[in-house]
Amino acid sequence: MAPPIALPLPRPPPAITSVRKLANLSSIPSNYAHNAETEASEPGDSIPVVDLSLLASGHAGAVEDLDKACREWGFFMIVNHGIPGELVKGVLDATREFFELPEEEKPEFQPKDVLTPVRYGTSFNTEKEEVFCWRDFLKVFVHPEFNCPERPESLRKLVIEYSERCREVTRRLLIGVSKSLGLEEGEAEAALGMASTLQIFIANLYPRCPEPEAAMGMPPHSDHGLFTLLIENGVGGLQIQRGGRWINVKAQPNSILVNTGDHLEIFSNGKYKSVVHRAVVNGEKTRISVAMANGPSRDAVVEAQGCAPPAYAPVKYGDYILAQQSNQLNGKSILKSFSIED
Ligand code: OGA
Ligand code: NI
Repeated sequence: MAPPIALPLPRPPPAITSVRKLANLSSIPSNYAHNAETEASEPGDSIPVVDLSLLASGHAGAVEDLDKACREWGFFMIVNHGIPGELVKGVLDATREFFELPEEEKPEFQPKDVLTPVRYGTSFNTEKEEVFCWRDFLKVFVHPEFNCPERPESLRKLVIEYSERCREVTRRLLIGVSKSLGLEEGEAEAALGMASTLQIFIANLYPRCPEPEAAMGMPPHSDHGLFTLLIENGVGGLQIQRGGRWINVKAQPNSILVNTGDHLEIFSNGKYKSVVHRAVVNGEKTRISVAMANGPSRDAVVEAQGCAPPAYAPVKYGDYILAQQSNQLNGKSILKSFSIED
């Protein structure tokens, strides 16, 4: 009798692993090849600067600067923000320690629920992606309930303090937004339910990459909230889209980068458009960034200010985040899905 034919066993799909484990390969696996054009121009010195101390003291020029930066760029640097440099460094160092911990000391890798309050994973949403990002992340909901991974032990205290400082910065920015939209000083904060702001600490690890031109740290997207505050470990990689071109942006010493999110666009009824941005990777250095996403209350249904008919359908912020996190990152596709066509 002829021997039974050995059928090839079905091969399981490759397990998704942390990119940290791929950093020593000599080329990237094919399912990491985005092959997007990653070239970008340098901004010169034109990135807007907003002086937070002037904004806090009600200086009219500072409100104008903020209005212009939000209208024309959706992106700016803040200076005199009151966040100590050692705190920024401490947060970035503790973040690095987190990523360097052995896997068994970290929270569960890739929990299925995209709104788990402490979520450690890779890429953005591997359930939906075919091409992955050269990025590991830790996302922690730090307000209104504070969460934190247990290790490294130093992280908790640092993140408590840093998140408080970022809420204070956001408060000042929203007072400026109130003024520039012609509202009373505290009106924006009240309308957005900022007493229970949903604040998410997002730590990104972009290891050195053997083929940086082919890979992508984070593809083009806009953020869901109001203002995202970004710090990084001295290694650049953030690019913003402006006039159809990509521009490299790097945090200047003592400054913090700020970008506008979809809910600022909804609230301002399109006056302040959320900025599309992405993160590219590099062949030499590991980059660490921490994006603090400051949003309205999870229960808030943000309404457009002003007399013009609203440009977006009402949606609870919590539901909006769920939609964004359950999909692939794709430019402003989520915001567009809520836009009211006339
Ligand atoms: C983000 C983000 C960019 C960066 O976390 O939403 O856009 O430079 N990060 O890490
Ligand atoms: Ni972002």
